Amino acid sequence: MARSEVKVLWLLHGVNLDMLGRRPVEHYGTLTLGDVCEAVRGRAAARGFELRCFQTNHEGRFVEHLHALARGDEPVDAVIVNPGAWTHYSWAIRDALELVGVPLAEVHLSAVDEREAWRQVSVLADLAAVRVSGKGLEGYLEAVDRLDSLLKAGE
Ligand code: DQA
Repeated sequence: MARSEVKVLWLLHGVNLDMLGRRPVEHYGTLTLGDVCEAVRGRAAARGFELRCFQTNHEGRFVEHLHALARGDEPVDAVIVNPGAWTHYSWAIRDALELVGVPLAEVHLSAVDEREAWRQVSVLADLAAVRVSGKGLEGYLEAVDRLDSLLKAGE
């Protein structure tokens, strides 16, 4: 772990997740990305994490942010990622996530395993210590709890 008592948890969102609240309600609900970040921030704080949120629609920008985390330019003890559609095909993002080297949770709002065949593929699944889908906001909160347990078990 890190430099201080407070663990830093990053909540990373990829392409199109900035449009939450306008996307199909049956899959993604009505919360905005800001709502998700604030709710996760509350659960993270209760578990002793400082939460930092990041979202971009640009794959290269996402990779560069992961490189910054991998280099230690910014503190990081654990990551929750919802890469959106990049989940299903971006080997570049998968490789960059591997470089970060901290416990990783992959979260999807919708039940990706029950949707189209192409959504059932995740190129980062093998990296993720925690995978949750189809539980909406609750899935992110579960990921915070499970990452906290994993970090505590490793202390
Ligand atoms: C998503 C599922 C992806 O298939 C989709 O492209 C998204 C959101 C989810 O949270 O359910 O953008 O990751």
